[in-house]
Amino acid sequence: MPAVEIKPDMYWVGVNDRTTDLFEGLWPISREGVSYNSFVIKDEKTAIIDLAKAMKTDDFFGQIADITSLRDIDYCVINHVEPDHTGVLRILKEMAPDMTIVCTEKAAGLLEAYYGVHDHMQIVGDGDTLSLGTRTLQFFSTPFVHWPETMMTFEPSEGVLFSCDGFGGYGALQGTIFDDECQDQDFYERESLRYFVNIVAKFRVSVRKAIQKLADVDVRMIAPSHGLIWRSRPERIIELYQKWCDYPDTPGDLAVTLIYGSMYGNTESFMNAAAQGIAAEGLDVEIFDAARTHSSYMLPYLWTRRGVVVGAPTYEGALFPPVWEVIREARIKGVKNRQLAMFGSYGWTGGALRDLVKIVEPVKWNLVDSLEIKGGALPASIAQAAAFGRKFAQTLKQDA
Ligand code: FEO
Repeated sequence: MPAVEIKPDMYWVGVNDRTTDLFEGLWPISREGVSYNSFVIKDEKTAIIDLAKAMKTDDFFGQIADITSLRDIDYCVINHVEPDHTGVLRILKEMAPDMTIVCTEKAAGLLEAYYGVHDHMQIVGDGDTLSLGTRTLQFFSTPFVHWPETMMTFEPSEGVLFSCDGFGGYGALQGTIFDDECQDQDFYERESLRYFVNIVAKFRVSVRKAIQKLADVDVRMIAPSHGLIWRSRPERIIELYQKWCDYPDTPGDLAVTLIYGSMYGNTESFMNAAAQGIAAEGLDVEIFDAARTHSSYMLPYLWTRRGVVVGAPTYEGALFPPVWEVIREARIKGVKNRQLAMFGSYGWTGGALRDLVKIVEPVKWNLVDSLEIKGGALPASIAQAAAFGRKFAQTLKQDA
């Protein structure tokens, strides 16, 4: 994608990644893609802000070369060292040997550790500035958005905040980089939530602190390192991130996430009956087969919805493994204060419920109801499951 001028003499020079299957080697993006947004500011001095993963380097350096000679880059601002933003640093350093790397002290240590880079460094701290001639860059320390070394860079004359992972999202850019030209903003908002929960939710308190720190800053454009550039409504993505940060401190939206696994279809039959019971009470229920769905897609629902229904058989005296994995992942990410109900079947011994309660106890999920059924999906058990779903939905509505 050719370079795009985002403000006079300020350019997006990012890379669209449509070939990586797993972001961080973990989170699926095969269908959605992701962008690594990088920016060039031309002034008396030329700066590049954040780089890209080491891929499509010819394209990346080619589009920078359309804006400026690589040898003329004076500063490379590294807001965050994770290799999706720094993978091409060593190559760039060879092509621009006089360039100075601008980063926090912690980032300098990580650059040495990852790339053996230690010369031509300028360490900056919270509130420091860097003059490019007519423009000045200002740096805000924002630790743990996403790693401890992270900062954001602000250009005050145009009000552009280069926020790196903060306010970012999955989703390759589809013909435009700007929110106001995007015809499917819902896609980016949905993928921003998935990205938030997958990547930075664990550090939500730090994200919230960063938002508070920026409250009095005159931000007129948010230019994150992944996803859309928020040109017309920068406040929109800030509000969304704020809301997402707050979810674990709230009861969550009045709706249900139903996560199930089934070995021979018995628990699946109970699931269908329970879901009917929930829907009959007028609540939205999103259903996931844990064995066939990556946790990346389930976590946003667990993060935002009040009710969690787990349907799982007992497997070797414990919770069915794919269900165990996503619930454990939710705990690690910090999904808190959910209302929980569990149903499932077992053959000769139970144990799934006991296992589930053990996982969610530390994050204060409240077990409202449970239904462990011995054997298969006989009509009486199906009716029990439907009544169970209905009762759980009623409880959720009463507490709302
Ligand atoms: Fe986009 Fe934490 O890297």
